[in-house]
Amino acid sequence: MLRSLLFVLTIFSQIIFRDDFFVVSLTSETCSAKNQDCNMAEVDGAHPKLFMLDGIKVGHVQEVKLMEGKIHQMITRSLRPLLFEIPDFLSKEECEHIIKLAGKKGLHESTTLPDPDDDIAYSDEEKVEHCKNLLSNDRGSDGKISTLEFAAFIKQDFAMSISDADVETMLQKVNFDKDRDGLISEKECLEGNHVAFDQYMRYLEDNHPRERTRLSKQTWLSVTGSTDVVLRDLQQRVKLLTKLPKYFIENSEDLQVVQYGVHGHYHAHYDSTNEWNGQASRCCLRNYSDHCSLCRFMTVLYYLNDVTDGGETAFPVAEEEHINQTEIEKEDRTNLSIHCYDANVVVRPARGKAVMWYNHLISNVTGLLGEHDVRSLHGGCDVLEGSKWIANNWINAPFKWTDGN
Ligand SMILES: *[C@@H]1O[C@H](CO)[C@@H](O)[C@H](O)[C@H]1NC(C)=O
Ligand SMILES: *[C@@H]1O[C@H](CO)[C@@H](O)[C@H](O)[C@H]1NC(C)=O
Ligand SMILES: *[C@@H]1O[C@H](CO)[C@@H](O)[C@H](O)[C@H]1NC(C)=O
Ligand SMILES: *[C@@H]1O[C@H](CO)[C@@H](O)[C@H](O)[C@H]1NC(C)=O
Repeated sequence: MLRSLLFVLTIFSQIIFRDDFFVVSLTSETCSAKNQDCNMAEVDGAHPKLFMLDGIKVGHVQEVKLMEGKIHQMITRSLRPLLFEIPDFLSKEECEHIIKLAGKKGLHESTTLPDPDDDIAYSDEEKVEHCKNLLSNDRGSDGKISTLEFAAFIKQDFAMSISDADVETMLQKVNFDKDRDGLISEKECLEGNHVAFDQYMRYLEDNHPRERTRLSKQTWLSVTGSTDVVLRDLQQRVKLLTKLPKYFIENSEDLQVVQYGVHGHYHAHYDSTNEWNGQASRCCLRNYSDHCSLCRFMTVLYYLNDVTDGGETAFPVAEEEHINQTEIEKEDRTNLSIHCYDANVVVRPARGKAVMWYNHLISNVTGLLGEHDVRSLHGGCDVLEGSKWIANNWINAPFKWTDGN
C-alpha cells in the first residue's frame, strides 16, 4: 500500500526548480525574490495583494528551493482546501531549538478565565461587555439566548462542549435566568453573577478535560524583530514557500507553540472567521488588544517531534462536494476522538514536516481575503502515546485595505 502510494507520487513528481525559479509574479508586476522588497507590490503606491500557489492535482510533487544546499518537496494533499505537505521543512536542530525556546517562555493551558485568587469583582462596563458578547450569539434574533445558543457561546469562547444538564446547572448557579423560562435576556445577564460564571467554567475545565474541544498547552514566540537566527530563517523560508508579500508575513501573529500530552487533541475547527460582517468583525492586524477577528489567510503548521502514536492532523471534509454544516455537527464529524481516521485527509506527524493550507480564497475584487473555505475544517487527533509538539504560523490579511490595518 505504502509502496504503491510512493510510486504514484514519483510518477507525478516533476522538477520545476530552474535558475529562474525565484521569479515571483504578483499581479502585473514581476520581480526577483532576491530583491527582498520587490514582492511588496507597494512600490507604486498600491497595497500588497495576496497570492495563491498552484496545487496542480492531488498527489502532485513540486520541488522548491527555499534555502542554500537543500531542495524541499511540496506535495499537494488536497485542492479544496488547497493543502500541501512539506517533509523536512525544519531540521532536527531547528525543531529542538523551537521547543527549547517555548519551554523557556513557559507553556499554559488555554483559558481566558481570570485567576481565582485575583480580585474578580466586575465593573459595570465589563458586565456590559460580557453580555454584549453573549447576546451576539443570538442566532434566532429574538433578543434572548436559548440554552442551545448558550452552549454554542461556551464552545466558541471557552473551547468546550458542554451537555444540556451542565447548561441548566450553570444557569441556576450563575442566576442568568431569573424568570426560569430557559432564555437569557440582556437584563438577566447584566443582573447575573459573573464571578460565579467564571468559577463554574473553571470547574468544568478542571473536571472534564476530555470534553474540552482543545486539550493542550501553548505559548507564543515573537518572530518579527526577533534576533533569534532560527526564527528569522524560518520566516524567510515561509516567505519563499508561500511567495506572499513580506508585509503579510511580517505583520502576522507570533508563532504559537503547542504541546499535547496523551489524550491531547483539538477537535475540528476553523482557524479563520467565516465572513466579513462589516465593522463588527474588522480584522486584527498588528493589534490584538482590540475586539476584532483573527483573519487568517493561511495556516502553516510544523510538527516539532515524532509522536509515538496518534496526533494526526485531520481534515474531515476536504475535497467534499456538498458541505452541510448542520449535518457535520449532527454526525459529530468534528469530534476527532471518534472521527479521525475516517476524515477525508489525514496527515501523519513527523518531526520537521510542515503542513500548509489556505483558509480563504482570494477576493477577485480587493486582491485580499475572499470567501472563507468551508473545507478547511481541521483539527488534531488524540495523541494515543507519547507527546506532540507543534508550532502554528498563521498568516493574517484583511478583507479590505483600509488605513490603520
Ligand atoms: C468526543 O467523543 C468522545 C468519545 O465518544 C467523548 O468522550 C467526548 O465527550 C466527545 N467530545 C466532545 C467535545 O464532544
Ligand atoms: C490598539 O487597540 C487599542 C484598543 O482599541 C487602542 O487603544 C490602541 O491605540 C491600538 N494600538 C495601535 C498600535 O493601533
Ligand atoms: C442540511 O441538513 C439538514 C439536516 O439533515 C437539512 O434539514 C437541511 O435541509 C440541509 N441543508 C441544506 C442546505 O441542504
Ligand atoms: C469575481 O468572482 C465572482 C464569483 O466567482 C464572479 O461572479 C465575478 O464576476 C468576478 N468578478 C470579476 C471582476 O472578475
